[in-house]
Amino acid sequence: MPGIVVVGSQWGDEGKGKATDQLGDRVDYCVRYSGGNNAGHTLVVNGERYALHLLPSGILNPRCVPVIGNGVVVDLDVLFTEIDGLAARGVDASHLIVSANAHVIASYHQVIDKVTERFLGKAKIGTTGRGVGPAYSDKVNRIGIRIQDLFDEAFLAHKVEAALEQKNYLLVKVYNRRALDPAQVTEHLLGHAERIKPHVVDVTRVLNDALDEDKVVLFEGAQAHHLDVDHGTYPYVTSSNPVAAGACVGAGVGPTRINRVVGIAKAYTTRVGEGPMPTELLDADGEKLRTDGAEFGTTTGRKRRCGWFDGLVVEAAAKANAFTDIFLTKLDILTGWEKIPVCVAYDVDGVRHDTMPMRQADFLRARPLYEELEGWSEDISGCRSFDDLPRATQTYVKRLEELCGARISGIGVGPSREQSIVINDLL
Ligand code: GDP
Ligand code: IMO
Ligand code: MG
Repeated sequence: MPGIVVVGSQWGDEGKGKATDQLGDRVDYCVRYSGGNNAGHTLVVNGERYALHLLPSGILNPRCVPVIGNGVVVDLDVLFTEIDGLAARGVDASHLIVSANAHVIASYHQVIDKVTERFLGKAKIGTTGRGVGPAYSDKVNRIGIRIQDLFDEAFLAHKVEAALEQKNYLLVKVYNRRALDPAQVTEHLLGHAERIKPHVVDVTRVLNDALDEDKVVLFEGAQAHHLDVDHGTYPYVTSSNPVAAGACVGAGVGPTRINRVVGIAKAYTTRVGEGPMPTELLDADGEKLRTDGAEFGTTTGRKRRCGWFDGLVVEAAAKANAFTDIFLTKLDILTGWEKIPVCVAYDVDGVRHDTMPMRQADFLRARPLYEELEGWSEDISGCRSFDDLPRATQTYVKRLEELCGARISGIGVGPSREQSIVINDLL
């Protein structure tokens, strides 16, 4: 019963989409279990680039069933736009299945996301503005709209009215905005009901039956450990649980179903939005990493903040998610540096920390202590085995492995599906 979770080990955009897609046609079910269309997962297959926001990356493998679990928040406009966009390129999504318990992102969630950020000013989170946080707030506040609510018109109208009562008060009195019309919102959501209906099944049962039959179920994380609402750099986090354990909650499978947890780690560090990032480079080196790595957000197009690899950040993720393996991505981007610094510890007010400090106040003041490793100048994008890599590259990988405390089982040396090195098979 191979249940395998792919999870981001830094602050997102590590290459989870590519790593998921690269596992190929041996995957029977590919499940998104958390987040919404704040995610942007890029795949490059046969020279074609696909940017997925809501659909699981398994969608490009015809024999894999794509699944949206109960833990995801679904913007149906985005979902259907994505499905239509893929159909125009010959990719069929008719076999997508969606949990009846997944919550929807309604138009008012996006409005609230944007006005809240504006209101926060300098203290903003730097969200993607997709309404993800407000949709999760409503879920926890027990006033959310679930996919199954779309199939009962009167019930839906009642729920939208209840959800909007307080929000309209806030919008008008606090944010000086126009009130939203519950009837219009209801009508818009109802407009999607017929189209989504054939996709809606009891996802929990389907996945547990599949695992009973020894099918391969891959849970594709969105966001990352350090953006997790419980484990990340709160409040500069997303509003869900991207961690591996989130797969159990967000898809309805027990922890004993998970056999492998693969942490995806970029060979350097990036972050989008606000929040601490000790190894961030605000100089020409950071700009070079951004240019070489094309570090611009897949979802919002924002510049990603760039810096050297932070061993403490990935080690903390490896520990809390119990990584069985790490897939190291974008190693090719580091080609051409004479020396490559790697953060091995922090200095906080003169005290050395070998692991991430418990208190965020300390993390905010952490100064990275670097070890300089030898760089390499050879083009590694054509390497297909560990032995093909230059000696200095091998040493870099081995040092990262030591720092992270989990074995590196795969390496990405380019954006395309085949530009990967497999050290230990993940399936
Ligand atoms: P995700 O959100 O974790 O799926 O990552 P994104 O797709 O947002 O960002 C990762 C970017 O790096 C995408 O443009 C990928 O095509 C690209 N990418 C992934 N792995 C590699 C790699 O090993 N080398 C290079 N050069 N690019 C990669
Ligand atoms: P993938 O799956 C990178 C960040 C936002 C912001 C914070 C909260 O592509 O790795 P939200 O809209 O979720 O309320 O924003 O989280 N963020 C991401 N950063 N990659 C992502 O997804 C992200 N999803 C959210 O930039 O700082
Ligand atoms: Mg991304």
